[in-house]
Amino acid sequence: MLAKQRKAGFLLSCMTDKPVKHTRRVRYAGTHPRKFSEKYKELNPEKYPDDVEKVKKRGQTPAGMHLPICVSEIYEALKLKQGMSGIDCTLGYGGHSGRILPRIIPSGMLIGIDVDSAELAKTEKRIRSYGYDESVFVTRHMNFSQIKECLDVRPEGFDFILADLGVSSMQLDTPRRGFSFKNPAQLDLRLDNSSGETAAELLLRITEDSLINLLIENADEPYAEPLGKAILLRKKECQTTVGFASVISETLQTKGLEPEECKPSIQRVFQALRIEVNNEFEALDRLLRSIPECLKRGGRVAILSFHSGEDRRVKKSFKGLTEQGIYSECVRRPVRPSFQEKYDNPRSSSAKLRWAVRA
Ligand SMILES: C[S@@+](CC[C@H](N)C(=O)[O-])C[C@H]1O[C@@H](n2cnc3c(N)ncnc32)[C@H](O)[C@@H]1O
Repeated sequence: MLAKQRKAGFLLSCMTDKPVKHTRRVRYAGTHPRKFSEKYKELNPEKYPDDVEKVKKRGQTPAGMHLPICVSEIYEALKLKQGMSGIDCTLGYGGHSGRILPRIIPSGMLIGIDVDSAELAKTEKRIRSYGYDESVFVTRHMNFSQIKECLDVRPEGFDFILADLGVSSMQLDTPRRGFSFKNPAQLDLRLDNSSGETAAELLLRITEDSLINLLIENADEPYAEPLGKAILLRKKECQTTVGFASVISETLQTKGLEPEECKPSIQRVFQALRIEVNNEFEALDRLLRSIPECLKRGGRVAILSFHSGEDRRVKKSFKGLTEQGIYSECVRRPVRPSFQEKYDNPRSSSAKLRWAVRA
């Protein structure tokens, strides 16, 4: 086998006139790769589909992928049909878009929006490789707060709009994106890492009162005050994901919490800063105000949210606009993922889906 690979390398070097560098297969201890850099099979799902399936069966999200949530519930909420036009406001890995497209072609069309330029380019390439050209699938690198700009494609409005809020698994799991306290990196938390202020930079300039406030407003953090004070006293240590998590954990342990009990606060503090860095609530409020103008009569909107700050806004907007007669109906109680989905994909656990219909 080795001799065969060496021969292939030699032949390739002859064809290109360049010496081909032999790279060793990544080796890891144990039966499963643990570090992101070892997960070369998951990062090449087209080449290793069986290995990717095995990771999914273990209830994990393969590295470099995002598993779409509440797919059948979204089909039901949006009542997709052939010929419809719509917008996926949060394209991500294209999990939802890739499932919507077969239901609306040949005469339908979909616009996929994302602020994350790096992932957007990869997703567009992937979706094009399934055979969808520019006549049925268009991408836009933009914030969904500017959704009205999409009316240039369909001035009469769209049949459906979907938003799956928050962060993708690729953003969370790719160490250099600086989103997770599980991977050492510079603390970043920007959805679009090509511009704007990082969370590390924000911590160098924010005042104690503003930090405490945002921990309460964005994540209902019960230890906002001691954490806000400690983070600013040790802001240099908070420049990295792991250092930031340690400061939070050590502060809470001085309040009598066990290390395991500190995890929810670490997650909430990361979430609070992410919301601030990306201006997420302002973008969502603008999106919610713009949706009615972007939908045709009878057009449908579905929004998946993952924490109370998001869900409160979606609920208030859908209810208020239904009372004003702008929506003809909206869901009363949010739709939740099935027991099976939560078991298969624990990242779906907190999801809430709400929908409304344009009057
Ligand atoms: C949960 S993921 C979406 C996953 C996608 N539905 C799928 O199945 O692959 C959320 C995505 O929305 C993007 N996003 C978040 N806020 C955004 C905003 N205000 N404007 C545009 N994209 C946004 C993120 O960059 C991320 O890629």
